[in-house]
Amino acid sequence: MTVELDLNRVAIPLDWPEIFGRTAPVDLEIGAGKGRFLLERAAAAPDRSILAVERALAYHRLCCERAARRGLANVRLLRTSAEDLLYRLLAPSSVETVFILFPDPWPKKRHHKRRLITPEAVAALHRALAAGGRLLVKTDHEAYAGVIAGILADAPGFTPLEPAVAFAGLPLTGFEHKYRDQGRTIFPFALEKTD
Ligand SMILES: C[S@@+](CC[C@H](N)C(=O)[O-])C[C@H]1O[C@@H](n2cnc3c(N)ncnc32)[C@H](O)[C@@H]1O
Repeated sequence: MTVELDLNRVAIPLDWPEIFGRTAPVDLEIGAGKGRFLLERAAAAPDRSILAVERALAYHRLCCERAARRGLANVRLLRTSAEDLLYRLLAPSSVETVFILFPDPWPKKRHHKRRLITPEAVAALHRALAAGGRLLVKTDHEAYAGVIAGILADAPGFTPLEPAVAFAGLPLTGFEHKYRDQGRTIFPFALEKTD
């Protein structure tokens, strides 16, 4: 079993039964880092498939090694950008849950354009989500949280969910463990696609 997806060898838009070899709900994690959330989630939910996208080569390789070592048949990893995934690779209404956990906040104003969560990205996520699908986001960065709150509040076709309920039972990421140890405030967001 190979966990690493080779974009030269799969159909685009991504075809989940081809990729996972089965029909099951598919979740995405965008920016998986070292993979702590991904690996714990995949082990706890073998009935769901999960594709993680990570653009940093070192982290991508680490996730591949860890997923393979644990024999997680429901994990696939793709080294590409969130933008490639959102604007080129995903079929409409094909995803159940999207996790964007602690996206880089790019605090300097001249870098804000690099932020992952934009109105365009949220519209693309809306297209990719199935009816009733969920977008779950967390950040520790208060200013970015304010921006995300505004973007999500204005995003058509979503209904907000109570974050504590939506995140209940889900593992924490590596960054969240670190930030909790430091006593930092975490800002969670949860939305459901309603039309
Ligand atoms: C702050 S880290 C958080 C990692 C992990 N989610 C966690 O909470 O421990 C952000 C991660 O997103 C990845 N990343 C940032 N921008 C990305 C993009 N546009 N496409 C794919 N990955 C991205 C980074 O390489 C990094 O691993």
